[in-house]
Amino acid sequence: MTLKNKTALVTGGAGYIGSHCLLSLKEAGWDAVVIDNLSTGHKEAVLHGELIVGDIGDGGLLDEIFTTNTIDAVLHFAASVYVGESVRDPAKYYRNNTVNGLTLLEAMARHDVKNLVFSSTCAVYGVPERIPIDEDHPKNPISPYGYSKMVFERMATDFSRSSGIRPVFLRYFNATGADPEGRLGKDCEQEEQLVPLVLQTVLGKRDSLTIFGSDYPTADGTGVRDYVHVSDLASAHILALEYLANGGEPGAFNLGNGAGHSVRELIKTVEEVCGKPVNTIDGPRREGDPATLIGSSEKAFKTLGWSPKYADLKTIVETSYRWSLAHPNGY
Ligand code: UD1
Repeated sequence: MTLKNKTALVTGGAGYIGSHCLLSLKEAGWDAVVIDNLSTGHKEAVLHGELIVGDIGDGGLLDEIFTTNTIDAVLHFAASVYVGESVRDPAKYYRNNTVNGLTLLEAMARHDVKNLVFSSTCAVYGVPERIPIDEDHPKNPISPYGYSKMVFERMATDFSRSSGIRPVFLRYFNATGADPEGRLGKDCEQEEQLVPLVLQTVLGKRDSLTIFGSDYPTADGTGVRDYVHVSDLASAHILALEYLANGGEPGAFNLGNGAGHSVRELIKTVEEVCGKPVNTIDGPRREGDPATLIGSSEKAFKTLGWSPKYADLKTIVETSYRWSLAHPNGY
C-alpha cells in the first residue's frame, strides 16, 4: 500500500503515551492531527501536529477532521485508564473507551480510513494462567477497564470484516518512564500507579508509599510487573504503522520487556537513583491485583522488528525521576 502523505490522526495525543508517540511520529516523518478533550491531557504535551480540542464521541467533529485532512492511519490512545476508578465508575469506562471508540470506528468506516493502531493493555488477559503471557493467552479481564479495552478490540475486529478496517492492538504491560530528553513526562492528577507514587514520596509530596500486599507467592512477597519505557511503546507504534502500510496482517502484539520486577525491587531502584530512602508502609493487597504479570513480546520483536532501547529498570526510573525533578507541579 502506498501512503498518500503520512498523516496520522492521534486520539488522546495530549496524554502520557500519546504525547510521547507524537515525538516518534515527528522523528519518523509523519504529520499528525491530534484530537484530545484535555480531560486528563495537557496541551503543553502536544509537541508535534495540530491539536483539535474535542471529543472522539463527537461523530460530527470526526467527520470534519476526516474531510479536511487526508488521514492515512489512526492511532487511538484516548481513554480512561485507571483500573480502580473503573470498578467505582464503570459507566465512565464503557462510555469513554467502548461507546466513544465505536463512534471512532464508524467515522473511520464512513471515510474509508483503514489502518488503526490501538492502545490496548495486558489487563485484557486478567489473572494469568501462565507466565510469560503471550498473545494467545485467554482473555478474561477482571476490571471494567480491561473489559472496555477488550470490547473495543472485538468491535475493531468485527469492523475489519464489515468495513476493511485493519487494526493492530498493542497490549502494553506497565508503561513507565519519561522522554529521555526531558521534554515530556507523566502528569496525572489522580495518580494510582506505582512509579509516580514512589517518586512523589521521595520528593516529599507524600508521607509514605503503601505496599499493596507482602504475602504474594513471589520471591519477596510483593507484586511483580513488567515495566516498559513509554518511548519504547512510542517506537512500537511507528513500526505498527509501517507494518500496516506494508500490508501486514491485523493482530495483537504484547509490548513488555519480558522481565519481572517486584514492588520492593522497584522501590530499591528508586532509592538508588534518587539517593534517598523511601518511606513505606506494608498494607493489604489491592483488590484485583494479580501476583505476577510478565509479557512475552516475541511476536513484536519478530514481526514488527521492535527492539526496546530503555529496557533496564534503572534507566526507566531515571527518566521518570528527571522529569519529576524538573516538573514538580507537572506541565
Ligand atoms: C494496571 C493495569 C494496566 C493499566 C494501569 C493503569 C492490569 C493488569 N494492569 O497496572 O493495564 O495501564 O493499571 O492504571 O490491570 N502498588 C503498590 N502501591 C501503590 C501502587 C501500586 O504496592 O501505591 C503495586 C501494585 O499492587 C502492583 C504494582 O505496584 O503490584 C504496579 O501497580 P500499578 O502501577 O498500579 O500498575 P498495575 O495495576 O500493574
